Amino acid sequence: MSTVAVEPSPAAPREPTAPAALLRLDRATRVHGSGPTAVRALDAVSLEVAPGELVAVMGPSGSGKSTLLNLAGCLDTATDGAVVVGGVDVASLDARGRAALRRRHVGFVFQDFNLVPALTAAENVSLPRELDGLGARAARREALDALETVGLADLADRFPDDMSGGQRQRVAIARALVGPRRLLLADEPTGALDSVSGESVMRVLRDRVDAGAAGLLVTHDARHAAWADRTVFLKDGRLVDSTGRPAQADDLLAAAPRTPQEGER
Ligand SMILES: Nc1ncnc2c1ncn2[C@@H]1O[C@H](COP(=O)(O)OP(=O)(O)O)[C@@H](O)[C@H]1O
Ligand SMILES: [Mg+2]
Repeated sequence: MSTVAVEPSPAAPREPTAPAALLRLDRATRVHGSGPTAVRALDAVSLEVAPGELVAVMGPSGSGKSTLLNLAGCLDTATDGAVVVGGVDVASLDARGRAALRRRHVGFVFQDFNLVPALTAAENVSLPRELDGLGARAARREALDALETVGLADLADRFPDDMSGGQRQRVAIARALVGPRRLLLADEPTGALDSVSGESVMRVLRDRVDAGAAGLLVTHDARHAAWADRTVFLKDGRLVDSTGRPAQADDLLAAAPRTPQEGER
C-alpha cells in the first residue's frame, strides 16, 4: 500500500486515487495533564485504516479506546506523533480546520450517543447534512433513508427522550451514516442493543465499508469484532496485539487480556 506523507507537500494530490489509508496514526500519543499526575491515555499507537477496511478495537476499560477514536475523529489532538485523516495531518490545522476536516470525512457514533434532545430523530440525523449546506427537504429525505436502514423509519418524528436506549443508539448510527463521510468511527455502537439489533447494525456498518468507507469500531463483543477485517487490542494506551485476518471469537477471548509473547510483534 502506498503511504501518505505526514507533511503534505504542495504538489501532493489532496484526494489520492489509490486506496491510501483514510486514517493513519503514526506513533500517536495523548498525554492528559503533566508531571507526576500525567495520564498517558494513548502511547505511540501506529495504525492505518484503508477504504474497504473495518478494524475492531478491543481492550479493557481505561485502555485508551475512546481516546483513539477522539484523535481519529479530529475531536482531540495528539500530544506527540501524527494523526493523518484523508491525507491531512490534523496537527497542521486549527480548531476551525479540524472541524471542517471532521465534517468532510468523519461519521462518529459516540459512546453516549450525543443526540440533541430538542430535535426529533429525523432532525438529529439531518442536522449534519444541513450543516453541510444541503436544503432542508433533501436533508430530511436522506435522514429518513438512513433511519430506514437502521430499522427506525416509524420513529422519525419521535424525540430522543421518548425512545429506548437501543433506539437512540440506532438514531446515532443513522446520523453517522448520512452524507458522503467515508471514515466511520463507532464507540461501542452495539452496547445498548439486543443481539438481533446488534447484528443488524454490524451489517449496516459492514455494507458501508464494503462500499468504500473505512471503519474503526470499538467493541467488547467478540461476535461483533468478527465482522471486522482485523482486530487491534489496546492495553494501558498501547497497541499490544492485532489479528491480521478476520478474527474468530475464540481468538479474541483468548487474546484480549494477555500481553503478546516474545516474537509475536
Ligand atoms: N480528559 C481526560 N483527562 C484525564 N484523563 C483522561 C481524560 N480522558 C481520558 N483519560 C484517561 O485516559 C485513559 C484512557 O481513557 P479512555 O480512552 O476513555 O479509555 P477507554 O475508552 O478504553 O475506556 C484512562 O485512564 C482515562 O482515565
Ligand atoms: Mg471508552
